[in-house]
Amino acid sequence: MILEVKGLKKYFPIEQGIFRHASGFVKAIDGISFSLNEKETLGIVGESGCGKSTLAKLILRLLNPDAGEVVFSGLIRELRKDVGIVFQDPLLSLDPRMRLKDMLREPFLARGLKRKADSEIGSLLGEVGLGSDILSRHPAQLSGGQRQRACIARALASRPKLLVLDEPLSSLDLIAQKQILELLSGLRKRLELTYIFISHNIAVVKQISTRVMVMQSGKVVEEGMAREVLGEPKSEYTKKLLEAAK
Ligand SMILES: Nc1ncnc2c1ncn2[C@@H]1O[C@H](COP(=O)(O)OP(=O)(O)OP(=O)(O)O)[C@@H](O)[C@H]1O
Ligand SMILES: [Mg+2]
Repeated sequence: MILEVKGLKKYFPIEQGIFRHASGFVKAIDGISFSLNEKETLGIVGESGCGKSTLAKLILRLLNPDAGEVVFSGLIRELRKDVGIVFQDPLLSLDPRMRLKDMLREPFLARGLKRKADSEIGSLLGEVGLGSDILSRHPAQLSGGQRQRACIARALASRPKLLVLDEPLSSLDLIAQKQILELLSGLRKRLELTYIFISHNIAVVKQISTRVMVMQSGKVVEEGMAREVLGEPKSEYTKKLLEAAK
């Protein structure tokens, strides 16, 4: 096991009026428990607003839960190093003023590995299928697919065990989506990574996941092997999601 989520809750206050008093709560995560095994890909699906990104942020400790906890196994010693993140919009997650070279160097400098940086950057680029000719470019000078490859390279720089991917394909056109999906599948096998793959695109989740968790309004509706949950869904909600994806 790589991590265990126990009874996790996160409620956001709904603020109203000019005095911004809380008039209620959005139960973004409302009692979620699950465990994640090493080298598995857990797909998380559910409609917009069901709490997927909030769950990712709680796992990454970018948010504090109101109840429950996320427990990592000994495989994850240092969250910042052992867990990588890839977000939906590479333009928002890359610094527009930085050149690709400096962006990829940063994780090494942060760990005092300045000398190692250049050789490691070369192999990272190779891993994500980018040429070294684009190293001096800024994010705006890259295509969407190249930008997402750059984000993946940066996420891999600390040699993480677990990658949390929150809608990593949603900003891309269909061809780039297919390429990045293949890249991620290949990397997972080669580097023996564990993935949490969040998407509202069921077809994509079906393709990459070993296990799937279906969320609705902050709760888990259904969970199990990808083939079973998406092949023979038990809940009405999953059936509806599958129907809507046709
Ligand atoms: N910082 C915040 N403050 C207040 N409410 C928030 C905050 N972050 C999220 N929410 C609310 O919590 C709920 C879950 O949001 P979340 O971003 O986790 O959904 P999601 O499943 O990732 O949706 P999408 O598929 O559109 O990305 C939504 O109702 C959202 O408006
Ligand atoms: Mg989201």
